[in-house]
Amino acid sequence: MPDGIAYGGDWNPEQWPEETWEQDVALMREAGVNRVSVGIFSWSSLEPVEGVFDFGWFDRVMDLLAENGIGANLATPTASPPPWFSEAYPQALPVDADGRRLHHGSRQGFCPSSPLYREKALRIAEQVALRYRDHPALALWHVHNEYGCHNARCYCDTSAAAFRAWLRTRYSSLDALNEAWGTAFWSQRYSDWSQILPPRATPSFPNPGQQLDFRRFSSDALVELYVAERDLLKRLTPDVPATTNLMAGAHWDMDCWAFAAELDVVSTDHYLIGARRERHIDLAFAADYARSLGGGRPWLLMEHSTSAVNWQPRNLAKTPGELRRNSLQHLARGADGIMFFQWRQSRAGAEKWHSAMLPHAGTDTRIWREVVALGAELAGLSGVTGSTVKADVALLLDHSSVWAQDHPAQPTSELDPVEEAKRWHAALWRAGVTCDVARPEGDLSGYRLVVVPQLYLVSDEGAAGLEEFARRGGVVVVGPYSGIVDEHDRVRLGGYPGAWRDLLGVSVEEFLPLDAPIRLASGASGGVWSEAARVTTAKVLDTYASGEPAWTRNEFGDGVAHYLTTLLDDAALAEVLATACREAGVSPEAVSVPGVEVVRRSHPDGRSFLFAVNHTGEDATVTTAEGETVTVAAGDAVVIPG
Ligand code: GLA
Repeated sequence: MPDGIAYGGDWNPEQWPEETWEQDVALMREAGVNRVSVGIFSWSSLEPVEGVFDFGWFDRVMDLLAENGIGANLATPTASPPPWFSEAYPQALPVDADGRRLHHGSRQGFCPSSPLYREKALRIAEQVALRYRDHPALALWHVHNEYGCHNARCYCDTSAAAFRAWLRTRYSSLDALNEAWGTAFWSQRYSDWSQILPPRATPSFPNPGQQLDFRRFSSDALVELYVAERDLLKRLTPDVPATTNLMAGAHWDMDCWAFAAELDVVSTDHYLIGARRERHIDLAFAADYARSLGGGRPWLLMEHSTSAVNWQPRNLAKTPGELRRNSLQHLARGADGIMFFQWRQSRAGAEKWHSAMLPHAGTDTRIWREVVALGAELAGLSGVTGSTVKADVALLLDHSSVWAQDHPAQPTSELDPVEEAKRWHAALWRAGVTCDVARPEGDLSGYRLVVVPQLYLVSDEGAAGLEEFARRGGVVVVGPYSGIVDEHDRVRLGGYPGAWRDLLGVSVEEFLPLDAPIRLASGASGGVWSEAARVTTAKVLDTYASGEPAWTRNEFGDGVAHYLTTLLDDAALAEVLATACREAGVSPEAVSVPGVEVVRRSHPDGRSFLFAVNHTGEDATVTTAEGETVTVAAGDAVVIPG
């Protein structure tokens, strides 16, 4: 990280004549840019023919940056192998579940398990590292780009062999695998490892265990690629930190926790989805998740957009001031760097309609003025770097659980664990309560309240961890269809939710998905899902018309565990979470005003920064927990040092 907040974006000078580069760096300085990501998609320019390298032009790029005091997130260009690669090694191209081999012509055209890809990727990464290991512009290794964004799962024969090897390590014996996958069902029993395939297109539902393990394997294959490049870079430049830009909260094919464990600094990309009404709350979720991945350490927003993107059905431009609010939200939630895709808007190529810091129309534009103003503002906030956000609440979410629930044969197709997690996060956001995202197996001891919106699959360790948290005095709220299956997607028997019947004091005998919302005794409504449940030790706080429980509360050890058997409407969910916050002694940073976000970042020595972001069209006055009042104009954001 530079001394202050990292500010800049992806710079792709290879898309422009050299005459443009001087102007680029001059404008970067005008905008307060101190960091750019370079080389991300440069493989075919750096190695135009296999084994023939051309670094002259890139030397000039790096020198220009150094001369202008701009640091480089120097990429290994491995996210987009050149056409020569696939022409020479067509067997390294990815294959989809239907057996279609994909061709070059876009990016990420490689099979993650291909030894040929790995060899060529490591060779170009090594060339880059050897050439620039001592270059003064080198600040951070930007390994690859968004691993798995387009090629997360490959079904080719090479992947099949790698999958079998992965399974042998995991299960040791075929008997153990058959048991884990429940292959007695539909006569799927394997008598030889060679019979096992990736879950390719098949006449009916695939085996759930096979599908789940294939997703785990595929994610691991990508992490392995990162680690191979990272290790090579560390050998040559032990002191240069390395990262890869994740897509935390947006893309669920890669296990972000597994990646994060290998990164020196967590970095992530975030894009608003235009069709979502409260996009700024989605942003808060992604930022909270990114912070959590690094255990609360400051992280780097590697990419977001100054305005519209180019890949949604309708690409909405940001409204005046939205770019600044978005950036300050990320900063408030722990980012030490605010960067964009990309520096100069492309003239050609598939992303020419994607906004940038420097638009097609040039510098006499609203976007440019906002970019320059933001650069100046961030330069004045350098004291924020290194400070952290303390959350008393954790929300449990897990990739394996999301993957398992993704199997098509479910009691209803209307449950979506990620959407439900976001809905609960949004309820806490509206109450002004900052929350972390955590894994069930993670350390929960620093939290007062743990919420579990929908965790279909939980390992024995994760199940025990939540129980232990409550036993020691923590407050827990569990939503339906949680704690249902073990790590192999096998049902935990004896009444649902098998993992947490004791914790919750509830036993469920049947799922009752709904075809329309239903009214509860309290007047609240439940949607999508209900259950035939009975309490064992819990008290019933709300019921269906039948008298069966919809909301229960169980005292467990020194703590309390709430359970919901339906998806409560937003207002009722907010009520349940408010009750749990009160019981846990969790209070917001400020008395909440609808649409105004208040977060504090603090240094260990007590210095802090209070961020207040007003997402509404009305001026608002918030009162902090310390009794301070802060007025934030409509659409404005303020940062108050304390
Ligand atoms: C991703 C990629 C970038 C670019 C942007 C467009 O984040 O990393 O290269 O394609 O999307 O939104």
